[in-house]
Amino acid sequence: METLKNQISIIGLGPMGIKIAQLYLQKGFQVNVFNRTAAKADQLVREGARLAKNISEAIEASPVSIVIVHNYAVANDLFSSIETGNALADKLIVQLTTGTSQEARLSETWFNSKTAGYLDGAIQVAPEQMAQPDTTILFSGNSGKYLEIEDTLKILGGNLKYLGENIGAAAAMDTATLSYIYGAAAGFLHGALIAESENFDVREYGNIIAEIAPGMGEFLKHEGAVISSGDFKLSQSPLAISVEATERILATAKLSGINSEFPQFAANWLKRAKDAGYEQEEFAAVIKTLRTPR
Ligand SMILES: NC(=O)c1ccc[n+]([C@@H]2O[C@H](COP(=O)([O-])OP(=O)(O)OC[C@H]3O[C@@H](n4cnc5c(N)ncnc54)[C@H](OP(=O)(O)O)[C@@H]3O)[C@@H](O)[C@H]2O)c1
Repeated sequence: METLKNQISIIGLGPMGIKIAQLYLQKGFQVNVFNRTAAKADQLVREGARLAKNISEAIEASPVSIVIVHNYAVANDLFSSIETGNALADKLIVQLTTGTSQEARLSETWFNSKTAGYLDGAIQVAPEQMAQPDTTILFSGNSGKYLEIEDTLKILGGNLKYLGENIGAAAAMDTATLSYIYGAAAGFLHGALIAESENFDVREYGNIIAEIAPGMGEFLKHEGAVISSGDFKLSQSPLAISVEATERILATAKLSGINSEFPQFAANWLKRAKDAGYEQEEFAAVIKTLRTPR
């Protein structure tokens, strides 16, 4: 359908919304934008975008609207302000605003009740990393709707991951990848304390981390497969090695007199798995002691 390919509306002009609008303008789309603060559209209008005076006008202007505002509360407020009969009828809404699985489910129900299609997505990069071959964006929701606009969405990034019809999947996976990122970042900060305590250049430490990160990614990919299979017999790295490593990091922190919260936390987790008798199993066996909430 020609119009689907060439018209798009962008609701929300923070740094990410502006970037998305620019990417579609560069591809020759007719881009309609709406933002609470209209002045943020000035540059885009100079580049060819059309500024809608309210959200209804923006939605009516295109078959597909991308919503990219601060959070779901903001998105919900904006959409509940629509007064006209049903500006949403037969439109497709792509929600790229960050949120939880629960918020995605509630949104899907609400938009479907207005006979609008709904897809949920989660962008995994910053604005300047958009539209690269490896730019990852997660999507979930109705597969037919996704396939209808996949080519249009590919303008935003070369590594789109469609996670299935469960509308909450993209938000859930986004929360999971963020969990990984902040866990790794906590370890990174503790490593920076170690580097500082030994007068080692933290910039060089950062360089080394970047070099070992792909290998760590491969290791975690393997641990994910182990957890998924439920078979924890030793395949790459015994838990015992990591128990010793976290004890050593903790002991080093105490000897150096630096903050020891992170190694204490990591050592506690791994000791619990050791005490449960998993020392000679694969590292990922730790998860068996974490499944019961404390
Ligand atoms: N930037 C990133 O690196 C990045 C990466 C991945 C995902 N995301 C996600 O993308 C979404 C947008 O992020 P962003 O970085 O572009 O900017 P943002 O600061 O998170 O959101 C800015 C947008 O939200 C609107 N907004 C905020 N409060 C509002 C309110 N009370 N009523 C109406 N509109 C309101 C702003 O309108 P005004 O201009 O009028 O204030 C603007 O359109 C977020 O959910 C974010 O988590 C961002």
